[in-house]
Amino acid sequence: MRFNKETGKFGMLLFGDLHEKPDYKTSLRFTDMQKMMIAALNKYEPDICVLLGDNFDTEICRDNPDEFVKGISALCAPATGRGIPVYAIMGNHEHDPGIDEKVIEAYSRVPLLNLRAEGVPGKADYYEVLYSSDGETPEAILWFLDSNNLYEDRSKSHYDFVHTDQIEWFEKTYAELNEKAGKVLPSYIFQHTPVPEEYRLLRKAHFYELPVSVKGYNSHSGTRYVGAKGTEGYVGEGPCSPDINNGQFESWKKTGGVKAAFFGHDHLNDFSGFVDGIFLAQHKTAGFRAYTDGCRSCVRYVELSEDNPGVFRQELAHFKDFGLKSESLGPVFRTINDRQSQIMHICARAAGVAAAAAVIYKITAGGLFNGKK
Ligand SMILES: [Fe+2]
Ligand SMILES: [Fe+2]
Repeated sequence: MRFNKETGKFGMLLFGDLHEKPDYKTSLRFTDMQKMMIAALNKYEPDICVLLGDNFDTEICRDNPDEFVKGISALCAPATGRGIPVYAIMGNHEHDPGIDEKVIEAYSRVPLLNLRAEGVPGKADYYEVLYSSDGETPEAILWFLDSNNLYEDRSKSHYDFVHTDQIEWFEKTYAELNEKAGKVLPSYIFQHTPVPEEYRLLRKAHFYELPVSVKGYNSHSGTRYVGAKGTEGYVGEGPCSPDINNGQFESWKKTGGVKAAFFGHDHLNDFSGFVDGIFLAQHKTAGFRAYTDGCRSCVRYVELSEDNPGVFRQELAHFKDFGLKSESLGPVFRTINDRQSQIMHICARAAGVAAAAAVIYKITAGGLFNGKK
């Protein structure tokens, strides 16, 4: 990996939670996903693509790994077909069938597609060093980390996290790479399940904001949230981060070089912002398979500059921003744009809150408990 000689840039195109399936050959949802992938590749001409986990149904890999390889090959074909490498990470669903080694082996069979287990045995953690355009100097590190599946004790946390031995591998490897480079290399993390600190990009909703707020997830479920000051993008659902904080974010801070982390997993969120100087970015699905609020599928483009690899530029682009027409969406979502879809989603949430308030009023003030009925 090296910076482009002509432009001095390095571009990365990110795809969240595609959730593709073996019926891709006849699926209009797959067709729509590929249309956006092609349009985004044409627009940004990235150096690499990143799949942020929950990429393709791994159940088929158990009995028919060849078909799985064909499926992920087809998924990546718009990029790999033009010589652009794809870097993938394991989402929770990649772990579902419990055949991680088979899945990693299958990924390794697709030319230009990467998903490797190079850290703690059995975990799909790996990294790439980004070099200067002349190939002489290491300039940055891209980390692709495995955030595992569900937590063993669901009463403590629904989702698992990056384990302590994985964090230790990250810190040790990072220190070695820095020592070799003679400087702290800026680092960029790609990981499926977000760290709990993502909630610091949100704040508790005021009463009058309840209709546009989202309910927190699991241990945060007693609170409704909106984006905090400085948070950009759409908060469509309570982030599904683990309920146990095992210190991964603190480890990033300790290294002094982590600049940004990009997560998948929450299919409706695309918000982002800085927490203690580290940019945390959520990606909603870039496909049409996962639960979504309609035509809002999007990609994120991140660009590093050789003259200062510790600073980056990034932007989101939604399906309709590319001027595309959907074949898989119903008549309403096919017609409306992203903004209108967002408003519809907020209205639906507001209607839900109003209905809940009416029920509570009925039961308490005007209903069952005062004996009027
Ligand atoms: Fe997902
Ligand atoms: Fe997920």
